[in-house]
Amino acid sequence: MKEFDRLENEKQLGFLEQAKDLVQEFSEKLGHKATAAVITFGCQMNARDSEKLIGILRQAGFDIIEEESADFVVYNTCTVRDNANQKLYGRLGVAGGFKKRNPLMKIALCGCMMQEEVAVAKIRESYRFVDLVFGTHNLFKFPELLVQSLSQDGMIIDVWEKTDRIVEDLPIERKYPFKSGVNIMFGCDNFCTYCIVPYVRGRERSREAKDIIREVERLADDGVVEVMLLGQNVNSYGKGLENAPSFAELLQEVSQVKGIRRVRFMTSHPKDLSEDLIQVMKSSDKICRHLHLPLQSGSDRILKAMNRRYTRDRYMELALHIREEIPDIALTTDIMMGFPGETEADIEDTLDVIRRVGFDNAFTFIYSKRTGTPAASMPDQVSEEFVKEQFDRILKLVQETARTQVARYQGQVMDALIEEMNDHDPGLVTGRLSNNTIVHIPGTADMIGSIRPVKLDECHGFYYTGSLA
Ligand code: 5AD
Ligand code: SF4
Repeated sequence: MKEFDRLENEKQLGFLEQAKDLVQEFSEKLGHKATAAVITFGCQMNARDSEKLIGILRQAGFDIIEEESADFVVYNTCTVRDNANQKLYGRLGVAGGFKKRNPLMKIALCGCMMQEEVAVAKIRESYRFVDLVFGTHNLFKFPELLVQSLSQDGMIIDVWEKTDRIVEDLPIERKYPFKSGVNIMFGCDNFCTYCIVPYVRGRERSREAKDIIREVERLADDGVVEVMLLGQNVNSYGKGLENAPSFAELLQEVSQVKGIRRVRFMTSHPKDLSEDLIQVMKSSDKICRHLHLPLQSGSDRILKAMNRRYTRDRYMELALHIREEIPDIALTTDIMMGFPGETEADIEDTLDVIRRVGFDNAFTFIYSKRTGTPAASMPDQVSEEFVKEQFDRILKLVQETARTQVARYQGQVMDALIEEMNDHDPGLVTGRLSNNTIVHIPGTADMIGSIRPVKLDECHGFYYTGSLA
């Protein structure tokens, strides 16, 4: 960490001390121990940020609960598609109702959506009961903002347009004791024409490798067996750092940390994925057999308009090469449809790539126009009926190929990290295979956090039911 950032970190720890007194006063006013909840939307990056928010709230003295009726509620927002924004407005309506019943309640908003001026303007005008708004770049300032918010009334808005800072070492509370995300880089410089991420998460910034390794070592000491390295575009890790290892080298180093038994990462851009990475994955039994490689479209014309900087042939060549090198890998992807100008012929091209690569899983998205991105002003925005029709075709094929891929392992024994009790059946626990497939087996709570050999008895599409082997 840079000296400048280290000093900021100390300053924030000072605010956290102040926050403790204020939370105590807040509890006295409420007449019970103040509760806090963090509601998370969106991706793994947000999930990790929420662990930071919860760590700070807990240290400040709040009881952490999951209900939105808490005395201090933080919504960590997403804005990758418009439906995420709409969802937030819906939830805020509900939160406003809680606040009517509990006028001392504080409502805070942070995350990607707050980096959008239009969204903040709307909050300011139409959701006046919100107490605190901050963004992705100054999340580390949360202790200071918490102090401000607890000591004054009225809406506080503190959103930075950009940052070059990486402030670490504030408290974090992991959702799972045995696995953790680890940020390795922030932001994205790719500017795919549909995507708002480069605008709300800013330019690419990588953490120093030694800070990453130190964090992983501490996590391992604390009982973590699986880490997921996080970044919008992990394959370009190190850009802008002096003497930084490549992503492949970093991955290898992380996988060698004592106590770490599994390493995953998210997300890869096909244009930056190196042969070294494939070889490192192949040679390590700790690096999970899963690669998420967003395709978006199988049409060269659309890929070009999206500024993805690869062709369908290049993508397929890469994907098939990876399958050849690491036959037991699960390849998953993101597919978007309804991009401006997309025709049935483009969809046919996408279907063709899906058929040839045979993804183990694919997330399908309907294009959502994001204000400020180049695609938003492209002609030929596609009609809703067309998208609906085509969406069903793509979904059907994706489900078929995924089922075939996932079923490849029926009857085999594989290691599963047991993650939680099954949601529906208290006699079952849920585990995750190295290739990211879920398996439900009979088991008990004491198995959670352990890696167990599991027989994959029956494939049910995306998941298995099995038994301890
Ligand atoms: N509309 C629809 N889907 C989008 N994604 C990113 N931006 C948009 C958008 N404007 C999808 C991409 C990306 C995933 C995280 O979200 O498929 O890979
Ligand atoms: Fe968005 Fe493209 Fe960056 Fe992914 S790589 S975050 S899709 S701009």
